[in-house]
Amino acid sequence: MISVAAKHAKGKKLKDVIFVTAGQAAEDTRQNGRDVVINGTLGAIYDEEGRLVFLETVKQEYLGLGDAEHIGYAPIAGIPEFLAAAEQACFSESRPDAHIRSIATAGGTGGIHHIIHNYTDPGDEVLTADWYWGSYRTICSDTGRTLVTYTLFDEQNRFNHDAFQNRVNELAAKQTNVVVIFNSPGNNPTGYSVEDNDWDSILQFLKDLVAIGRNNVILGIDVAYLDFSGEKEEVRGFFKKFGNLPKEILTCVCYSLSKGFTMYGQRVGALIGISSNEEIAEEFLDINKCTSRATWSNICRPAMRTMANIMADPEKVKAYEAERNCYYQLICDRAEIFKREAAEVGLPMLPYRGGFFITIPTESATAICEELKKDHIYVIALTNGIRIAACGIPKFQMTGLAEKIYNTMKALGKL
Ligand SMILES: Cc1ncc(COP(=O)(O)O)c(C=O)c1O
Repeated sequence: MISVAAKHAKGKKLKDVIFVTAGQAAEDTRQNGRDVVINGTLGAIYDEEGRLVFLETVKQEYLGLGDAEHIGYAPIAGIPEFLAAAEQACFSESRPDAHIRSIATAGGTGGIHHIIHNYTDPGDEVLTADWYWGSYRTICSDTGRTLVTYTLFDEQNRFNHDAFQNRVNELAAKQTNVVVIFNSPGNNPTGYSVEDNDWDSILQFLKDLVAIGRNNVILGIDVAYLDFSGEKEEVRGFFKKFGNLPKEILTCVCYSLSKGFTMYGQRVGALIGISSNEEIAEEFLDINKCTSRATWSNICRPAMRTMANIMADPEKVKAYEAERNCYYQLICDRAEIFKREAAEVGLPMLPYRGGFFITIPTESATAICEELKKDHIYVIALTNGIRIAACGIPKFQMTGLAEKIYNTMKALGKL
């Protein structure tokens, strides 16, 4: 193939199954109508009538901004009021006892990018669980890094400490910096959340590792689904555990406005660095600010201002949280229907605790998903399972879906 691309860029091609399948679902909907098509593709909330939800409280604030807020540049690091608001919204009552610095990013994606770019060297490996969001791999390969995985679940579908520790030790033997990305609570694609006692064991293991004196550990905590994974304070309790850690452990939380504030396309999030050492926290700010300038310059001002304004007004926070919680409850109800029916028919699924997605483990996802499309059912084929977006499927279509999938798998001999 003729190419003028640089060596590192040759052969790059984005295979985005999610947006391709979503496009097919949209086309089917145009031809056959909304009630016929089950669209469980995208990670965005759709209401019971199939409309993309824009939280009314967020919409009002956003549309009410003045021109300068709508179109003006923002500081490279982000609007200060937004950064304070992002820390508050993220941690709430569980702010870690540490030096904390924040920087605005292009969604949670931007935070993941900065962690990988600034805390590993080209050629390094980055670790995450084997159930992971595909963009992690894309960001790694685009920046000349390699994503490696550990087996997330043991036989009881609990956190697999042996697999995790073995993989971390392997990396620690090869690299000074061990970057580990956790997507919890409400993991995409499984809906799994790391439990508190598992966090304790993970952190104890990492403390023992850095005590040897050879490694730094950078924990990337992707909390894209924080607001849809449990009771507000309970689900944030684990943040406290990142305070008072050894200085060789830096925690970087990837916070996003995409899901919690329904501003997906506005591309706003914050990368929040947590360290017991002030110099490391300052370095975090300096190096990431530089990468922001070199990557996207600055971030969408109106979405930052909208969020900052809401968070500055207790009445608005109350209204916003009440509205958001209604949709959280709706997603729970939808997931509950699927869970109950899956148990009834004997369809295997991974442990769902929250978030937007449910996953059925299978080695034959592509064949099954292609077959389901004939029945106007659009869900995502992963390498190791089928991802179903509970955030997008109305209850009337969720009812009976587990059985349909079960029957399709059975007919294909894939159970
Ligand atoms: C696991 C996970 N992390 C992060 C994100 C971040 O999205 P955004 O860049 O829109 O904040 C997503 C969105 O789909 C996600 O699924």
